[in-house]
Amino acid sequence: MKSTFILKDYFSYEDKESILAQMQAHSKEWGAIPFLLSLLKDGSFHQKLGKGSLYLLLDEEKLTDGKPSLASFLTFCDRDEIESNLKPWIGFVFTAPAYRGHHLAGQIIEHCMNNAAALYPESEYVYVSSDEKGLYEKYGFEFVGKMKSIWGEDSGIFRRKIEKETSEINYKTLTPADYDELWSLWNQVEQTKRALNPVDDTREGITRYMKRNPTTCFAATSGGKIVGAILTGHDGRRAIIHHLCVHPDFQRMGIARTLVAKAEEALKKEGITKIFGLVFKDNDKANSFWGKMGYSLRTNLNYRNKSLNADVPTGE
Ligand SMILES: CC(C)(COP(=O)(O)OP(=O)(O)OC[C@H]1O[C@@H](n2cnc3c(N)ncnc32)[C@H](O)[C@@H]1OP(=O)(O)O)[C@@H](O)C(=O)NCCC(=O)NCCS
Repeated sequence: MKSTFILKDYFSYEDKESILAQMQAHSKEWGAIPFLLSLLKDGSFHQKLGKGSLYLLLDEEKLTDGKPSLASFLTFCDRDEIESNLKPWIGFVFTAPAYRGHHLAGQIIEHCMNNAAALYPESEYVYVSSDEKGLYEKYGFEFVGKMKSIWGEDSGIFRRKIEKETSEINYKTLTPADYDELWSLWNQVEQTKRALNPVDDTREGITRYMKRNPTTCFAATSGGKIVGAILTGHDGRRAIIHHLCVHPDFQRMGIARTLVAKAEEALKKEGITKIFGLVFKDNDKANSFWGKMGYSLRTNLNYRNKSLNADVPTGE
């Protein structure tokens, strides 16, 4: 699937008509869509669901009537269909059939979880009401029992803990929707800028990488902005590290150390036993850093590589 996804909130999205038309076209596929559409069309969305967003994941490569295609959406609001004072709730989770199996709903859920602490400082958990078995567990939710819905029916309730960091630096799993911020960070860090190449580091290249490695790329944020990042991925046997960097204003605070620890932990969960990274010989800071992180220097190997694309240099 050749796709480039952008995350938008319906309420600040400029082309609401296109979204409504695409939802309408999907309404045969899921019975809850007509109800959601009625809330959007008669303006009662916030009255029914309280404060919150309707997040959209749009495919910019595939156009529908000349507009980005609606691939996945969900609501992240004070309420859903359960009579309760708990909040917030993720609801109306839908991925278009052509996009299923690519972890798209998971990307939007991560976005909600990453913003939950700032939006709901009083809350301990994000909730979902669903009768699906095994789905929300995949996204880190736990089943906590059944509650009555506003329709008077029993519904399964799942919750996921909101991570509250004590320092002002927060950490999150990266998704393709973070590409613009990453690109800007990489270009502000000299040693990383030097390692970028015009094919693999495009939006398309990074999206492809993150789709193959959805759980092992991390960012550090301050005030909601990405200030450090690490990409790691594996081929089923070995893991490799790419583009670890921390914005110069945030270096020597232990951010890279934490990013590396998070990546290592995630890779271990995937059963990976060894990890490596390439470091320019003249990058003293990074060589000193990796030594401190316990990464030994192999001197009995030659690094051999071959480019399979004329635009990707092999280096000296
Ligand atoms: C290398 C880099 C990622 C380190 O990020 P950081 O967040 O500052 O690192 P941390 O604060 O987690 O450092 C952990 C430890 O590494 C060592 N270290 C980090 N930066 C160092 C430096 N400039 N000189 C010497 N040691 C350093 C220190 O021991 C440090 O702990 P300490 O300061 O408490 O003694 C950062 O300097 C960077 O972004 N450099 C440019 C991009 C780059 O070269 N990336 C690596 C590509 S392989």
